[in-house]
Amino acid sequence: MKKLIAGNWKMNGSLAANEALVKAMLDGLQGSAPAADMALCVPAPYLAQLQSLLQGSPVAWGAQDVSAHEQGAYTGEVSVAMLKDFGCRYAIVGHSERRQYHGETDALVAAKAQRALAAGVTPIVCVGETLDEREAGQTEAVVKRQLAAVIHAVAHCTSEIVVAYEPVWAIGTGKTATPDMAQQVHAVLRAQLSAATQHPERVHILYGGSMNAANAASLLAQPDIDGGLIGGASLKAADFLQIVAAAR
Ligand code: G3H
Repeated sequence: MKKLIAGNWKMNGSLAANEALVKAMLDGLQGSAPAADMALCVPAPYLAQLQSLLQGSPVAWGAQDVSAHEQGAYTGEVSVAMLKDFGCRYAIVGHSERRQYHGETDALVAAKAQRALAAGVTPIVCVGETLDEREAGQTEAVVKRQLAAVIHAVAHCTSEIVVAYEPVWAIGTGKTATPDMAQQVHAVLRAQLSAATQHPERVHILYGGSMNAANAASLLAQPDIDGGLIGGASLKAADFLQIVAAAR
């Protein structure tokens, strides 16, 4: 299975900066097929811009969130049909920043994943423990609980999701989980997926949390690390392309 390297721009960008960044990435690929599947998850107002910049390129694009509702009186929400209008292939759901700052529960994350999948948009389902939870020996229990909610909601479609393990203490901190630490959790997630789908090996399990050009190769060499969800380093074309190259 080809690895998947997805960028999460978070709340960064501007029309001018996005254009320069995407053009530098596409120039860096020089028309050749990248070593990994690539995607950029960008703020919703820029989806039209990304669609026009990336259409016909090997880079897919997606959103950082999606509503659990189909349509209607939900001020500020963005529906999956709207994401489809702009050609989105992916939607991140349950990022720890949404769980932490917007009170998203396992049940809401599962509903979002279900809504995305039903419309043909692949949810990138984020799971991960906080530092307190890791220190209390709860890592495995936390990620299993978070993933179980989604598996239960999407049932027979489990092999169509992407999972991202993002230890909260490693996000944007420069502290990366060691390849062994990450692999240990990825193996737990793979085993959990095995019970729910016939083809657990088809589910990309991405690692996210301060992955960068220097540490990507050792993380991506682990047997159950199928790619990366990249925050900070996805805002620099050269760094992002080096991570993609490390996925070879
Ligand atoms: O979604 C991406 C993750 O939160 C990782 O962010 O690479 O800036 O640590 P980071």
